[in-house]
Amino acid sequence: MPLSTLPELTVAPMEGLTTVVYRRLHAQFFGAADRYYLPFVTPTREPKFTDRQMRELAPQANEGICAIPQLLTRNADDFIWAAKALADLGYKEVNLNLGCPAGTVTAKGKGSGFLQYPTELHAFLSRIFEADLPIAVSLKTRVGYRSPDEFENLVDIYARFPMTRLIVHPRLKTDLYRGDVRLEVLDKVLSSLPMPLGYNGDLITPGDIEKVSLRYSGAPGGLAEIMVGRALMADPALFRKSKGGNAASLSEILSFHEALFEAYTTLFESQKNAMMRMKEYWFFQLCLFGEDGDEARLQKAASKIFRCKQIPDFEAAVREAAEGFPLRRDARYGWRKPL
Ligand SMILES: Cc1cc2nc3c(=O)[nH]c(=O)nc-3n(C[C@H](O)[C@H](O)[C@H](O)COP(=O)(O)O)c2cc1C
Repeated sequence: MPLSTLPELTVAPMEGLTTVVYRRLHAQFFGAADRYYLPFVTPTREPKFTDRQMRELAPQANEGICAIPQLLTRNADDFIWAAKALADLGYKEVNLNLGCPAGTVTAKGKGSGFLQYPTELHAFLSRIFEADLPIAVSLKTRVGYRSPDEFENLVDIYARFPMTRLIVHPRLKTDLYRGDVRLEVLDKVLSSLPMPLGYNGDLITPGDIEKVSLRYSGAPGGLAEIMVGRALMADPALFRKSKGGNAASLSEILSFHEALFEAYTTLFESQKNAMMRMKEYWFFQLCLFGEDGDEARLQKAASKIFRCKQIPDFEAAVREAAEGFPLRRDARYGWRKPL
C-alpha cells in the first residue's frame, strides 16, 4: 500500500501500559506514532482533575507527541466540565470510551455498558454535542453489548452527531477479548457511517494493517486511523515497519526495556513496583521472540520472568529469554484467547 494512502497509525489507550512513561520512551526509541490515546480518565463529581490524573494529562507530560485524552463516564455534566478542562490544558480532541468491558465499569453503565441503553446514550450525546464544546469529540466503541444486531441502531445514533471520528473495536462487551473480531458486523454498516472511521482490533503485523486499511478504505467518511494496542506492546517497531522502516533489533528492545524500567522506578520510587509493571510488558514482549516450535520453552521462560521476586533475578531472566531465542521480524499472536 503506498505510504500516502496509509491512514494514521495510532496507539490504543491501555491502562497501565500506554502511560506517560511509555509514550515518551516509545516516541524516543521508535519514532512517534501519529497519535497516542491516553488511558481513560473518569471525571469525578468535583470538577477538577486529581493530581494522579494530571500525571497523565499535564501538557508537559505529552510534549512533542499527539496525545488524545479519553473520558469514561455516562454523565453528560461530568463529560462537559472535563472536556472544557482538557481544552484549557491545550487538547484539541477528547475521546469517549464506549468500549471498556470490565465488569466494574459496565455494571455502572459506563464503557461498553452504556451500549445497553441506546436511549440514554442518545440523550448523552445530544447534551455533549449541543454544549458547543471548545474541543472536538471522537468515540471509541464496541459493536454492541450482547448481540451483533445492536450495531445498526447504535450507528444510526452515532451518525446524527458531528464527531471527528468513530473508532470501532468489532467485538461485543460479552466477547471481552475472546475469539475473533467481528469484521462482518462492521462491513454491514460501513455505508451508513458518515464520519471518519478508525479501526481497532487484533492487528499484529504490517501485513494485517495493510489488509484492514484496504478493507475499510472505502468508508464514506474515509478511514482516518488504524489503532493498535497489544501488538505494539509486543513489537514497538510495528508502525516504523509499516512506514517502510526497520524491524526492532535486540539491542533496541533491551535498551527500551532498561529505559522503561528506570523511568518507572523513578515514577513509583520503587524498583519492585517497577519490576511488576515491567512483567506486564514482558507478557507481550516475549511474543517477539522464538520460532514455531519454541512455544513450550518460551512458556517456561515466561514463567521464570513472572515468578521473580528479586530485581537481579528478574534482570537475569529477561536477558536469558532475550538472548536464548531468536528475535522475530513480526510478533506472534501469543495473547489470543479462544471464545
Ligand atoms: C490492559 C489493557 C488496558 C486497556 N485500557 C483501555 C483504556 O483505558 N481505554 C480504552 O478505550 N481501551 C482500553 N483497552 C482496550 C484497547 O484500547 C484495545 O481496544 C484492545 O486492546 C484491542 O486492540 P488490540 O487488539 O490492538 O490490542 C485496554 C486493553 C488492555 C488489554
